[in-house]
Amino acid sequence: MPILRNPDSLRNWRQQQRGSLALVPTMGHLHAGHLALLRLAQARAEQVLVSIYVNPLQFGPEEDFASYPRTLESDLQQLAEHGCTTVFVPSDDDLYPRGAAEQTQVVPPERLSSILCGTQRPGHFTGVATIVLKLLHLAQPDILVLGEKDYQQYRIVGQMLDDLNLPVQLLCGPTQRDGDGLARSSRNSRLTSEQRILAPRLATELRQLCQLPVGSLVQAPARDARERLQAAGFAVDYLELRNSESLEPVSEIRPGARWLAAARLGDVRLIDNMVIP
Ligand code: PAF
Repeated sequence: MPILRNPDSLRNWRQQQRGSLALVPTMGHLHAGHLALLRLAQARAEQVLVSIYVNPLQFGPEEDFASYPRTLESDLQQLAEHGCTTVFVPSDDDLYPRGAAEQTQVVPPERLSSILCGTQRPGHFTGVATIVLKLLHLAQPDILVLGEKDYQQYRIVGQMLDDLNLPVQLLCGPTQRDGDGLARSSRNSRLTSEQRILAPRLATELRQLCQLPVGSLVQAPARDARERLQAAGFAVDYLELRNSESLEPVSEIRPGARWLAAARLGDVRLIDNMVIP
């Protein structure tokens, strides 16, 4: 499995490729959720490129950039075992030779990026949009595969592709869950054993909220769910019903609307979302 370590080798590799290419961007510490994205990419394109890069530009100064799990050797092994054709593993100096903060940055659409995670993580989606656009320019894929768990990211990148007329098809891979419902995430490995037992309650609350009858008002049940989570030990950043396209607030249960939540257990921030069937 070729491992490309810098932009020049990626560009050279790309020039030699024929046939369709799907890009699966990741920050590593791969789990079953990433492998499902890889399978989706393999089913839809002749070549698949997985990138592994913990992007400093999308972390705030108080966030977990330093402690974000980095497990390159086992990531590469998993990718090889699952038939991944090529991996891009750049360094900070390769991608941000002037330093991340000094370089040109992409301003994501305000309407989608200033809400939900954007409220608690100012600058996060600027960092995401910037790195995704850089990866797209370097890899020139036909298809980009992102996970549904990071739904706000998926919507922002989708609008960026549209707004900047990028000829890339965006695919959304469904959230993968552990047996108890917890959405798979690289950050789950940082939960203590007590926090890991509590963590699936976030998904349980979302699932129950999705079962409310169509037409019922959401304010009181959302408040009750937030209170139950707080009482169990979560610090809830948000738990809201939103339109799946515009991410605007929705006040009554409607099929197709989406519950989105972010909540912290200690210093581990969990996000999850579920659509009302
Ligand atoms: O979802 C992620 O892992 C990251 O935000 C991404 C898309 C790889 C950009 O760094």
